[in-house]
Amino acid sequence: MGKFSFENLWSEKSTDAPRKLVNHAEYDFAVAYPPPEGVPMDGLIDGLKTIVDAKSDEVARDMSYYPHVQGEESLRELTAEKIFVDRGIKTDKESIVLCNGSGEANGLIIQAIINPGDYVITEEYVYMGTTNQLNYFGANIVGTKIDDKGLIPEKLEETILNIKKKAGVTPKILYTIPEHQNPTGSILPKDRRIDIIDICKKYGIMILEDDCYVDNRFEGCPEPSFASLDDSGMIAYVGSFSKLIAPGLRMGYFTATDELIDRALSVKIGSGPNQFVAYAIDGFLRSNLNNQRNNYNKLLKDKKEAMEKALEETFDKSNAKWSSPSGGCYTWIEFTDGTNLSSIRDEVFSKGVGYLSGENFAPNGDGQNMARLCFAFESIEKNYDGIKLLGSILKDMKVI
Ligand SMILES: Cc1ncc(COP(=O)(O)O)c(C=O)c1O
Repeated sequence: MGKFSFENLWSEKSTDAPRKLVNHAEYDFAVAYPPPEGVPMDGLIDGLKTIVDAKSDEVARDMSYYPHVQGEESLRELTAEKIFVDRGIKTDKESIVLCNGSGEANGLIIQAIINPGDYVITEEYVYMGTTNQLNYFGANIVGTKIDDKGLIPEKLEETILNIKKKAGVTPKILYTIPEHQNPTGSILPKDRRIDIIDICKKYGIMILEDDCYVDNRFEGCPEPSFASLDDSGMIAYVGSFSKLIAPGLRMGYFTATDELIDRALSVKIGSGPNQFVAYAIDGFLRSNLNNQRNNYNKLLKDKKEAMEKALEETFDKSNAKWSSPSGGCYTWIEFTDGTNLSSIRDEVFSKGVGYLSGENFAPNGDGQNMARLCFAFESIEKNYDGIKLLGSILKDMKVI
């Protein structure tokens, strides 16, 4: 029998791109994972059991339904309490939407606002998961320059005015990761947040605040969230359990005005996220939030310090600089002499060290002399040894 031909059947959106499988280098600094040794498997199982034991009939009945479109009620309630206590955001369970990771939350808000051709401003450099989604939905992405404190209000206004001048339109969304920015690790100070709110309000631009890394702080205190600094409804606030507990749970959330929630849910296909996972997170976090945060943050601090020590011993500050973040999962390195880390990435990977070069995070296509190094995933020893190995590979290749 001949092979069936799909040639005239494929949709315009589908492509024959290879499956997105992740290959891991021996020293894998390319990933975006939290510390595996801190994933609280027993705690999650105990948490699940606590909830099931406490309300078994209710749980069995709710498990027989498809989940509420906003996700499991008790975890929504806990999330609302958490972001009030931690982030000063006044909300309630009716205004929390649990999602299949914060990636889905970002995607729903993007779809509620963006038509193909619309403009979105992001930090330059920025998390590619969101730029991928923006590209998929046809947005024009314009990066605005940041410094070691993140967005610069004056530059943001210049970027808005440039878009207005060149394209004759006003951008619709400012997408920002204000705490432990991915990839640069910057933290946006309160006064800049206030100025940015004023600028965005002036031009009618909404702010999509992605606070994915706020729990991963190992030094100092968080800056106030954008969402706590404004009560006009212009801010959609997105959070995640991926970096506080584990990405494998696939659970994130957002809160916004009722109007925006309705719009975002109007484009959602399918029911709310996994109910079983929601019980486990709820049962676990109700008694372990601070423990979990402290455990991860101790690991993150030690790991970052090991990587930083190796960077200092290996690279010359006259031609390279790197960030020293007080939280999050990444160090951002830049070869100020222009060394192209993008063109040698595959060879360095084959010799044992993985990183993501800067152009992956560049809305405008540059950044080849930069890279994101994740310190959260590998052990303390491997963070140190892997950077030393990276230095000797680059020396052997006569790149440094
Ligand atoms: C800034 C940022 N936002 C969102 C996500 C998506 O995370 P998740 O969908 O696992 O919550 C990530 C993942 O790395 C991220 O770095």
